[in-house]
Amino acid sequence: MKGIILAGGTGTRLHPITRAVSKQLLPIYDKPMIYYPLSTLMLSGLREILLITTPHDQDAFSRLLSDGSQLGIEISYVVQERPNGLAEALILGEKFLDGEKCALILGDNLFYGPGLGTHLRQNTTVDGALIFAYQVSNPSAYGVVEFDKHGKVLSIEEKPAVPKSSYAVPGIYFYDERASHFARQLTPSERGELEITALNNAYLERGELRAEILSRATTWLDTGTHESLYEAGGLIRTLQHRNATRIGDVEQIARDLGWI
Ligand code: DAU
Repeated sequence: MKGIILAGGTGTRLHPITRAVSKQLLPIYDKPMIYYPLSTLMLSGLREILLITTPHDQDAFSRLLSDGSQLGIEISYVVQERPNGLAEALILGEKFLDGEKCALILGDNLFYGPGLGTHLRQNTTVDGALIFAYQVSNPSAYGVVEFDKHGKVLSIEEKPAVPKSSYAVPGIYFYDERASHFARQLTPSERGELEITALNNAYLERGELRAEILSRATTWLDTGTHESLYEAGGLIRTLQHRNATRIGDVEQIARDLGWI
C-alpha cells in the first residue's frame, strides 16, 4: 500500500494567516501540521508517500521534507492546480500508485491514540474501501456515515443539514487498486468539487465499503479553523508535557521503526 497526503486547498477559513503560507505548514505547537498526518501514514507502515500541494507551496514542502530519505521513506510531489475536490487526489496520484492500494489522508487531519498504528496497519490489505467513523457533537460539519444495527453502512452524506447519525468520517481513507478508476468517473458536485463522499458512495453502491468505528480513546482533530488550530496546539502541548511523550515526531517514529 502507498500513501497520499492531500495538502492543497486555499485555507480560506484561516485567512489572513494562510494568504502567504500553506495551512499544512502552520505550527501545531512544536511541529508543522503536515508532520501529524505524515506520522499517521508512517505508523501504518507506509514508506512510499505522495504529497499533493498547491503549485506555489510545493517548494516550501520540499524544503521541509525533501525526498524523505532522512526518514527512511520516499516522498514524491505532485501539484493540484486548483482545489477541485478531495477525490481528485486519486486521479493526480494514479501514476504514483501504479495499480497499488492506497491510504489517503488529509493534510489538516490529526490522529492520536493508543493502538492506532496497529489498527491502521491491520487494514492495509483492504479490498474495496475502508473509512472510519468517529462520534462528534457537530456531524453536519463533516461527511456523515449511517449504520444499521449490525454495523453495516447504510449511507454517507457530505455535510448534511439533518445528519442521520452522529458519526463523522475522518480524513483518512483506505482504498483498493480501483480508487483512481472510480475517481475518474465522478462528476463535480454542486459546489464544483470531486467529493470524497461521492467516491466512497461509488464503493458503497457496489457493496464494497466498510466503516470501522474509531474508539473514543483516539483523538481526531481537524485543524481548519482558528479555534481548532489553537485547540490542537494546546492539546499536543498538554499531552506531550503530561505523558512525557512525543506526538507526530516523524524522526523518532522513523528511528523506532528501524527505518533510519
Ligand atoms: O476532515 C474530515 C472531512 O474532510 C470529511 O468528514 C469530509 O467528508 C470531507 O469532505 C472533508 O471536509 P472538509 O470540509 O474539511 O474539506 P476541506 O474542503 O476543508 O478540505 C480538507 C483539506 O483538504 C484541507 O486541508 C484542504 C485540502 N484540499 C481541499 C480541497 C477541496 C485540497 O488539498 N484540495 C482540494 O481540492
